[in-house]
Amino acid sequence: MIVKRNAAEVDKIKKAGRIVAEVLQILEKEVRPGVTTQDLDRIAEENIRKAGAEPAFKGYQGYPSSICVSINEEVVHGIPSERTLKEADIVGIDIGVRMKGYYADSTKTFPVGAISDEAKRLVKATQKALYAGIEKCRPGNRLSDISHAIQRSAESNGFSVVRKYVGHGIGRMMHEDPQIPNYGSPDQGPELEAGMVFAVEPMLNAGGFDVEVLKDNWTVVTSDRSLSAHFEHTVVLTESDPLIVTRL
Ligand code: MF3
Ligand code: CO
Repeated sequence: MIVKRNAAEVDKIKKAGRIVAEVLQILEKEVRPGVTTQDLDRIAEENIRKAGAEPAFKGYQGYPSSICVSINEEVVHGIPSERTLKEADIVGIDIGVRMKGYYADSTKTFPVGAISDEAKRLVKATQKALYAGIEKCRPGNRLSDISHAIQRSAESNGFSVVRKYVGHGIGRMMHEDPQIPNYGSPDQGPELEAGMVFAVEPMLNAGGFDVEVLKDNWTVVTSDRSLSAHFEHTVVLTESDPLIVTRL
């Protein structure tokens, strides 16, 4: 069942979303060669708590950190460590917070210094695919219209869409119904209604769509070790335009 949120609940999700967006903006300024991914995690956690929220990922199914940091061929769920960012890396930073019992979740992929043309194209195409999906977050559309728009956008730019990980409903829990695949045929699944809240999160690969999990049991990488990028926003469906709560 897909829950619809009332105005008071949407307000709380908006507050959580603003914190996520502000912390991502702080982290963007810290992304440079030499910074460790655990430095980014510490800065994120400090700022999340300073804002009166809690890091939603910490302790989730045993996850050890406040953010996920996924570099180059890493797709999602990279664990912060002593690893330093290097010039020409691309780094996906995924943040979720809980504020007064409500959640928001967002991811951006940042360049570290100057990056290759292919990496630039991949990052741009992934953000474009996210917005193609968000554009379908409107009452009257059906769930798979979001999925289809993302796949179409991604593949029109020559990239593949990860199948194994999906977007999700969000609100009182980080992961609620429905699951939102980033591929599929249009006009399937439940009809969308105002008040639904979705985390839309395409992951695009420069090579094939297959992925595998490393021995740390978290880090997901492309099977062919090609580059991968990830963007995510938390979006409230309204009678007019979709409301992106994780954007400043
Ligand atoms: N944004 C990711 C998701 O929606 C983050 C989960 S990381 C975890 O699944 F550590 F919390 F599992
Ligand atoms: Co998510």
